[in-house]
Amino acid sequence: MKDLIQKLVESWGPSGYEDRVRELIRAEIADVVDEWRVDALGNLIAVRKPIRPGGMRVMLAAHMDEIGVMATYVDEKGFIRFTNIGGVYPLNLRGGRVQFRDGRVGVINREEKAEGDPTLAQMFIDVGAASREDCPVRVGDPAVFLRDFVDLGPRLVAKALDDRVGCAILIEVMKQLQDTPHEVVGVFTVQEEVGLRGATTSAFGVEPDLALAIDVTATGDTPEARKRPMKLGAGPAIKVKDRGMLAHPKVKDRLIETAERLGIPYQLEVLELGSTDAASIQTSRAGVPTGCVSIPTRYLHSPSEMVDYEDVTNTVRLILGFLREPIDLG
Ligand code: CO
Ligand code: ZN
Repeated sequence: MKDLIQKLVESWGPSGYEDRVRELIRAEIADVVDEWRVDALGNLIAVRKPIRPGGMRVMLAAHMDEIGVMATYVDEKGFIRFTNIGGVYPLNLRGGRVQFRDGRVGVINREEKAEGDPTLAQMFIDVGAASREDCPVRVGDPAVFLRDFVDLGPRLVAKALDDRVGCAILIEVMKQLQDTPHEVVGVFTVQEEVGLRGATTSAFGVEPDLALAIDVTATGDTPEARKRPMKLGAGPAIKVKDRGMLAHPKVKDRLIETAERLGIPYQLEVLELGSTDAASIQTSRAGVPTGCVSIPTRYLHSPSEMVDYEDVTNTVRLILGFLREPIDLG
């Protein structure tokens, strides 16, 4: 799975511009699913029909988009001012590199006299242009962090593990799914980082009976970190709560039972910030019982996010186990 993860994280796809990631995923799964379609916003919706009766329509969601920046102004010397696409922390930017859609690379730096906590307004991108006329970047052009994937053995480091690692897990689930009573609808969503927008429209269209999001969550296992239960290497995190949702208790319990039955390590997630596609799926139409399986991730929304590879493979096992039998929410 590491090759697949590398391909996905090194692909270019800020919110609203997910087409390259979508094409990569479509090519991976087209032969193993019964049907696929792309909706009006760009969500990729892939369906596997049930093998036996007695199930429901289960939507699994992982988002294709990554955070990034967008050019807002080019000055007469060719320096680019920019705004954020999603949750970009100024502290993570200085000295970093970004890449525009055409492959052009720029470096980010900060006004020399600026003091205090860095703000985006003090920062600029330098693409090596000599003047405004010479600058190939136009207002409105998006860019993403440029950073290679690194395999540290048990741990992986890359940009956009949020949420391409979730996409890789969903691809594996769609490939490995064998004996299931459920119609499994894998949705690779757009625009999660700017407000769960792709999940909102795709859930309305798919009309699932039950849903799970697959996304990353923060950890509390680094120096002086905020006290949090989640850590790398202790298994997939079964969400109980984040700022946007309370997981459906029966869906959460069913995930816990599955992990215990199959001997898969797991941890419980209570996150004081953030949310996932699960929040908007849960409140779509008349409501959908929804849970979320999270991959604990260090340094979220930085150009070097870190996950534990066994957590990733165990998440695939957990979701496959979850889908094997009929689900009774009564
Ligand atoms: Co994110
Ligand atoms: Zn995410």
